[in-house]
Amino acid sequence: MTGQATLTLRLDDSWGLINPNLYGHFIEHLGRCIEEGIWVGPESSIPNTEGLRNDTVAAFKALNPPVLRWPGGCFADLYHWEDGIGPRERRPRRVNAWWYKEEDNHFGTDEFLQFCRLTGAEPYICGNVGSGSPREMMNWVEYCNYGGDSHYARLRAQYGHPEPYGVKYWGVGNENWGCGGAYDPECYAREYRRYALYLRRLDPSLQLIACGHTTRDWNLRFLETLGRLDLLDHLSIHRYYGCGHETEFTDQEYYDLYLRALQVDADIRRTEELLSFFGQGRFIGLVVDEWGVWHPQAKNPDGLYQQNTLRDALVAASVLDVFNRWAAKVTMANLAQTVNVLQCVIQTEGAKMWLTPTYHVFSLYRPHQGATSLRVDLECDSVAVRNPEGREASLPVLSASASRHGERGELTLTVTNRHLTEPQEVAVRLRGEAALGEGRQWVLTAEDVRMVNRAEQPEAVVPTGSPFPPGKAEFTLVLPPKSLTTLVVPLR
Ligand code: AHR
Repeated sequence: MTGQATLTLRLDDSWGLINPNLYGHFIEHLGRCIEEGIWVGPESSIPNTEGLRNDTVAAFKALNPPVLRWPGGCFADLYHWEDGIGPRERRPRRVNAWWYKEEDNHFGTDEFLQFCRLTGAEPYICGNVGSGSPREMMNWVEYCNYGGDSHYARLRAQYGHPEPYGVKYWGVGNENWGCGGAYDPECYAREYRRYALYLRRLDPSLQLIACGHTTRDWNLRFLETLGRLDLLDHLSIHRYYGCGHETEFTDQEYYDLYLRALQVDADIRRTEELLSFFGQGRFIGLVVDEWGVWHPQAKNPDGLYQQNTLRDALVAASVLDVFNRWAAKVTMANLAQTVNVLQCVIQTEGAKMWLTPTYHVFSLYRPHQGATSLRVDLECDSVAVRNPEGREASLPVLSASASRHGERGELTLTVTNRHLTEPQEVAVRLRGEAALGEGRQWVLTAEDVRMVNRAEQPEAVVPTGSPFPPGKAEFTLVLPPKSLTTLVVPLR
């Protein structure tokens, strides 16, 4: 059987400009994310540039990563940044008390900023509130950004970087309601105000990000106590989700995972309402600086390593559709975590490196970065699912995003057919524009939604491309089951 659907693409109605940072990433000193996944050291037999492995750099760069968050995560609130600068042999070896490993501090601020430079990502540094101080974080900003002749600017020059790095995004702590100090919202608001006051004074160009919660009550109490809303540029929330085993899930669990992930839509709505209310006309961005699937198999002794199936990738596409719809409010989102941890885009095993199905989703959504998010109206079948509270619900079989890139004169349409067995025939109608030039189409699918890429079979799940013929403003797409289709066409 083939499902029938219609997709109306409104070229005359937009959801706002898609901040490229919605396609951001996140790395932490956890498991094999940085150690092995990114950093192997200059002496390694794995080909590297100043200790950063070349294969990871090249693969990550190809995604056009707009922004990269570091050093955590929970690790951020026990990281003392001065441990990670200067000659490596003199850097202290510390206990990473959050993830129960030792930290040699060989990958520190300069190495992180070099990785950003090589891959084109804008750095986003998360400071230490839980076990740090405003003074310590100010010194870090001074080291990264100050252009004068101060102690930390001299130190940076001494370590080989006379020019300031100009790091714009700074997080004031991470999950401060939990691993970042177990604060109540009132206490964290006072701490945040103190940090932000001095950081802003030192460098008014900083974009400051407070760490919020997914519950309305926590954020409300934080914003009420903060008072000085002028000190807040963005508020962040995190959303992780899971349903069943990483690879041996049931068909029902496949569908149910979508609803768990799509909770992010309600998270954004709840938080955005508060930010609009408290901002009183001043725009405060909403950041989802950790998100992704977290399977029960990802545990700390294994550094939160998990398998990445086609299911995870297709669900991520639906989350990206939510972000694109909220383009006017969401200023950044960071998938957790880039290499070897949770929903990574890259996996490594010694000298071997390969790409996960989620990598390909990010690659197929790349043309949306910086484009205008267009309104999409969908009429399609639904499947029966259980919502996270266990109640019956329904899930539309299709999810889509569309955008128009003015400069490139290009239209991008990404459509997921979530149905496990039925292809969907979609009548696409463009409202408000004439014809389409010759474009390209890619399809990401696999025989089984449980398939993963592995070292010995790195291309089990990869997209296939084909030309898309020029045509009119109405056409039909046939979407295979459990697939993502991306269409990139010039507008004429
Ligand atoms: O990404 C793993 C952990 O999840 C992060 O360290 C923390 O912020 C979150 O709870």
